[in-house]
Amino acid sequence: MEKNFSLRELNTFGFDVKARFFQEVKSLEDISDLLQNPDFISCRDATVSRINDNTSRILILSGGSNILFSSEFFDGFVVHPNIKGIETLEETGETVKIRCYSGEVWKDFVDYTVSRNLYGLENLADIPGKTGAAPVQNIGAYGAEVKDTIYQVHTIDLTNGQTKVFSNEECQFSYRNSIFKKHKSIMIYAVDFVLKKHGELKLDYGNIRNYLVNNNITNPTLQDVATTVKTIRAEKLPEVGVVGSVGSFFQNAIVTTDKYLEIKELYPDVPSYPVDINSVKIPSGWLIDRAGWKGHRENHVGVWDKQALVLVHYGGGKPQEILDLMKEIQDSVKDKFGVWIKPEVNII
Ligand code: EPU
Repeated sequence: MEKNFSLRELNTFGFDVKARFFQEVKSLEDISDLLQNPDFISCRDATVSRINDNTSRILILSGGSNILFSSEFFDGFVVHPNIKGIETLEETGETVKIRCYSGEVWKDFVDYTVSRNLYGLENLADIPGKTGAAPVQNIGAYGAEVKDTIYQVHTIDLTNGQTKVFSNEECQFSYRNSIFKKHKSIMIYAVDFVLKKHGELKLDYGNIRNYLVNNNITNPTLQDVATTVKTIRAEKLPEVGVVGSVGSFFQNAIVTTDKYLEIKELYPDVPSYPVDINSVKIPSGWLIDRAGWKGHRENHVGVWDKQALVLVHYGGGKPQEILDLMKEIQDSVKDKFGVWIKPEVNII
């Protein structure tokens, strides 16, 4: 166990936040040892009654690609799950079941499945972070969500040491959400996926099809789609490890149909996706862009100039600068469109 440990390498925003206690766990035995650790036990006991809110003194921190610390000191115990391994569990004529342990880097796992010609994860290529975090916010991109490939999730509750395997249904997946976002003491140590040997490619989202056409790819393969997604991402999003960010900082806005029609009246080009008969999803990136924030920079932080949904830390700044910028953007979008945009990032 480490004390006063810098989490700079463990949050992709790159803030130099310190944790009072830090422990990496590389195996199930490491987890058993952790549960006996006196410092862990005292943090756990201080936390049990309020484990599900943001004041918890235990934090499970995976790749740190969707987290913003609100201060520069985390006065508690950070557990960093880093169990490695990929196993094929079962193979039929149509599908392959694969177990991937939480510490595997997500984009490497996707590349591995694509190299085995297995369908399902190709549109999720190059998303930063580790596999154990993928179910937590049901990562999604380019018309795919990870929930559609997850069979079950293996967990251990750090408050009582109980293990549980969650079926897909029990995970309660929805847009950028799952049961694991609420129950923050549950550590995911492995995820089981079902991937298809013969699948259909999803080409309809955004400019995937355009990109393929422009590159004269008429009959795309699984590899072509993964490569296309990587290229489009690289054009739009800051490179992880080079510029501090967490990808999308805000969720897309879900508004009432009336609100949407009101905005469309003034801005006929507003992009939208239907949700149900009463509500419509409007890209927050578009709202922020139209409110004039794209490319805006304030000291050490700013709004990415190629995708306004992404806030960036250029280095040397403090988490509070991002929080101030977040508030300014929320107020400005509210003033202009009457829509309150919510952060997607997990604020601790
Ligand atoms: N738009 C603008 N200006 C901007 C950004 C976007 O006008 O600065 C418009 C675009 O022109 C497009 C629409 O907004 O019409 C949607 O933009 P985009 O396709 O880039 O996707 P997004 O809705 O902004 C979501 C995910 C991303 C994911 C992309 C592609 C969320 C919160 N974000 O962004 O996920 O990569 O779709 O599927 O749902 C992430 O979660 O970290 C992330 C990057």
